[in-house]
Amino acid sequence: VIAVPSETVYGLAGNALDESAVRRIFTVKGRPFIDPLICHFASIEAVRKQVIVSTQMESLAEVFWPGALTIVTEKRGSIPDIVTAGLPSIAVRIPENLVFRSLLNCLDFPLAAPSANPFGYISPSRAEQVEQTLGSKIPAILDNGPCKIGIESTIIDLREPTQPAILRYGPIQPEELEQVLKMKIRDEVKVPQGDSREDQEEQLAPGRMSRHYSPNTQVKLIHNASWPEVHLENDSAFILNKRPVVRSADPHLYWLSEDGDLATIARKLFEMLQKLDHLGYRILFVEKCPSEGLGRAINDRLERAATRS
Ligand code: TXA
Ligand code: MG
Repeated sequence: VIAVPSETVYGLAGNALDESAVRRIFTVKGRPFIDPLICHFASIEAVRKQVIVSTQMESLAEVFWPGALTIVTEKRGSIPDIVTAGLPSIAVRIPENLVFRSLLNCLDFPLAAPSANPFGYISPSRAEQVEQTLGSKIPAILDNGPCKIGIESTIIDLREPTQPAILRYGPIQPEELEQVLKMKIRDEVKVPQGDSREDQEEQLAPGRMSRHYSPNTQVKLIHNASWPEVHLENDSAFILNKRPVVRSADPHLYWLSEDGDLATIARKLFEMLQKLDHLGYRILFVEKCPSEGLGRAINDRLERAATRS
């Protein structure tokens, strides 16, 4: 089991046909066995050996593979149940990253790979992030520099041909998928609950909460930030979408892009969060993006970060 680069985020990869390798992936990540893994293949021919490829899957594959789209479809015999957490379905992707695909091309089995982060932590978009969190538990990380996209693939569920559904927002937008499938796609993305309950708990037992949540810094979301002119306490950081127009000497002010470009923000997001997580801040205030296109996926990850911390 080693870490591999992909165009989305780094993955923690092992032989999808080998139960003990897959078990090791779950153990290294600390991931519960009820959470299924994505299987990565070198080509559509390789996919066909393990999975029945429907016409819908075929048409999406033609346009979006290799790339940041994961397709959930019916599962056939040869993939061990541990990969799919016993579900009758399987998640499949052909990645675009050349190092990952060269590796897959050398192998006669698919690679099961979740994102290469400890369960519940930020996904890694650089090899250094994997090194910091899982480095001592795995023998190798294939370092291919920063990931081109920086957030995880879009997941579409094609099990019900008349009712395809989005399970996770990502780099490929539902509208693009609708155009290819020529039908409406249901939105099955589960919205995180928000942190109001945690706020209450924090007031009841602040000591316990702060201990419980270290080392993961609390994340709070802000909208269209105009950061307070009178500073910010030293114990919090502000992460904006773009460089502020008014120059600020505030050392605790960060930004993810020069001009608000969503692709740049996605590429930098996880790296920035992990970096600031190690600087001892009590709270990271993060500005939400406009909720359109890639902004939807970015906001989804931000809401999850804010819910968990
Ligand atoms: O971009 C990505 O997708 C990265 C790279 C490494 O490929 N992988 C990734 O894996 O994000 P992971 O395990 O962090 O997220 C996979 C998601 C999980 O939320 C899992 O529940 C869902 O895919 N999933 C996997 N198999 C599924 C299935 N059969 N049905 C529904 N959801 C499934
Ligand atoms: Mg993950």
